[in-house]
Amino acid sequence: MISGIRRIGKTSVLNVALSEVNAVTLIIDCRTLRPNYSRAELYSLFSEALSSRLDRVVDLLRGLRGASIMGSGVELRWRGRDSVSLADLLDRLNSRRAVIALDEAQRLRRPLSTEARDAIAHAYDYDRNVSLVLTGSEAGLLYDFIGLKDESSPLYGRYFREVRLERFSRGQSVEFLRRGFDELGVEVSDDVIEGIAEYFDGIPGWLTFAGLRVAEGRGLEDVREEAVKVAEGELLDLLRSRAFTPEVTYRRYRALLSCIARGSDSWGKVMSCLGQELGSTLSSSVLDNMLRTLERLSIVKDYRFLDNVYREAALRLR
Ligand SMILES: Nc1ncnc2c1ncn2[C@@H]1O[C@H](COP(=O)(O)OP(=O)(O)OP(=O)(O)O)[C@@H](O)[C@H]1O
Ligand SMILES: [Mg+2]
Repeated sequence: MISGIRRIGKTSVLNVALSEVNAVTLIIDCRTLRPNYSRAELYSLFSEALSSRLDRVVDLLRGLRGASIMGSGVELRWRGRDSVSLADLLDRLNSRRAVIALDEAQRLRRPLSTEARDAIAHAYDYDRNVSLVLTGSEAGLLYDFIGLKDESSPLYGRYFREVRLERFSRGQSVEFLRRGFDELGVEVSDDVIEGIAEYFDGIPGWLTFAGLRVAEGRGLEDVREEAVKVAEGELLDLLRSRAFTPEVTYRRYRALLSCIARGSDSWGKVMSCLGQELGSTLSSSVLDNMLRTLERLSIVKDYRFLDNVYREAALRLR
């Protein structure tokens, strides 16, 4: 498992690692799954991944019920008597050394979590040549998906190794930016470099975002503004996503994020700030639940935003 907040470098680490192993490697990009995805969508992720490695897998797929090779692509039949099961597919891959990565795997958790988890559990038990890598920026949701604390999950109690990616130190960030600017052949003052490193707080995705724009000649202020807009859009998408309807819940989360962004850093402070914002009091269990949800989404921990840019964006949510 590769975990860490958004833009910390999970997909990059995954790509580098997979390019260095001597095996058939497949990356299933689960981020493209819509909430409430269909079985057709799930299977098409697998067929896309297989199609992109067709030369390495074509002989394994021959004769597999429900799989057909069409030109340069693989088609997987996902319903009816002739459909392929994910377990059969994994068994086939097992005749080679194979590494299958599920990027942003927590997206699989609804609605077909059982199907996905059963396939993973099957490979874990029977397919010794298949290794699985799961990544997720919403660590809590990823644990929920595998059923870390759920005895009824087929993956409960299984051993896994977690690689938790952490942000760059201030020194590493400065060094990273300097080397980037050198590579691009642009001169950028130490002040600006320090300014980027401070604001974007060691998150490589943001450092790259800001570095490229500054290299194009844009001012730091302007780049920060653009980053906050991006983060604001992501926060709003999240708030609007199915988990946060209806409207009351949406307003509560918006108020909670705004309170924490403005510095409410204890239970009592958050409670009173929410009272002011919403004009009514919340029960402890509701607040507890909301805080836990924000934690599971890796947005807030111990009343603090994990990403400074998200905090700035939350200041605008009022
Ligand atoms: N170790 C690194 N060295 C240099 N650049 C990096 C490193 N890690 C990440 N980056 C840069 O940061 C960007 C974001 O990284 P990446 O997409 O891998 O993060 P992620 O954790 O998968 O993000 P998300 O949660 O949004 O999927 C990449 O485009 C890459 O340019
Ligand atoms: Mg990623």
